[in-house]
Amino acid sequence: MNKVYKCGEVYATTCDYEKDADGFARAYEWVTTWAKQFGPALPHPFIYADPPWNAGVLSMFRKMVGEPPRMKFDAFLSRIVDVLYSVPADVVFCEMGRQAKVDFTSRMEAAGSLRLVKGYEVSYGRGKANKPSWLGMFSPSRESDGTPEIAQGLIDEAIPLICIDWYMSTLRLPFVIDPFCGLGVTLDAAAKRGVPALGVDLVPARVEKAMHHVSKILRRPIEAIGEV
Ligand SMILES: C[S@@+](CC[C@H](N)C(=O)[O-])C[C@H]1O[C@@H](n2cnc3c(N)ncnc32)[C@H](O)[C@@H]1O
Repeated sequence: MNKVYKCGEVYATTCDYEKDADGFARAYEWVTTWAKQFGPALPHPFIYADPPWNAGVLSMFRKMVGEPPRMKFDAFLSRIVDVLYSVPADVVFCEMGRQAKVDFTSRMEAAGSLRLVKGYEVSYGRGKANKPSWLGMFSPSRESDGTPEIAQGLIDEAIPLICIDWYMSTLRLPFVIDPFCGLGVTLDAAAKRGVPALGVDLVPARVEKAMHHVSKILRRPIEAIGEV
């Protein structure tokens, strides 16, 4: 069981998808059911994901929790797609390294009703270590206009903010969910826009830091509200 944290309307918990393929869907169900007891239902989910991009990155994060990778990266890519499809979002933004782009897109489209509507080259503003990468927008085919233009030289945080703003202006109020929330760039963006969000990540210390950032932005305390 993993603790579920809450700060304002931002929730976060821990899960290892290599061991627990359904953990993201369970966290989503748990939080939506919990929230419904105390107020209106959370809005329709919108996914912003920044998964590990290659075998090296995957093993780097697993070292942080003292475990070797159990899956080859290829199998993990398929697991990412299962995770993304396990909640009922109809728009998925996914950041990927260039190498994973082709493979990931074909798996994503083979898995269900969402297809790649737009792909953007992105590069981050901070330092040389951040090589240009790729952001894909998966959605039903109706979404082809008004998608955010992502330029080079953005800071990391600007990218989920642009996507959230676009979703709010063209569709509706989102429930922003990030199955690889790490240190919480996407959760911070949701907090800044005052929209509800859920983040899940492998590394408990990263989830705690993410909530700490959110708490600073919202100036509200972090509560542990249960376990999932
Ligand atoms: C590229 S980082 C995400 C960075 C994030 N956008 C941020 O603001 O820090 C990828 C994240 O995937 C998480 N991750 C890696 N393997 C995972 C697994 N098996 N299950 C769940 N999360 C995993 C890592 O802990 C890491 O935080």
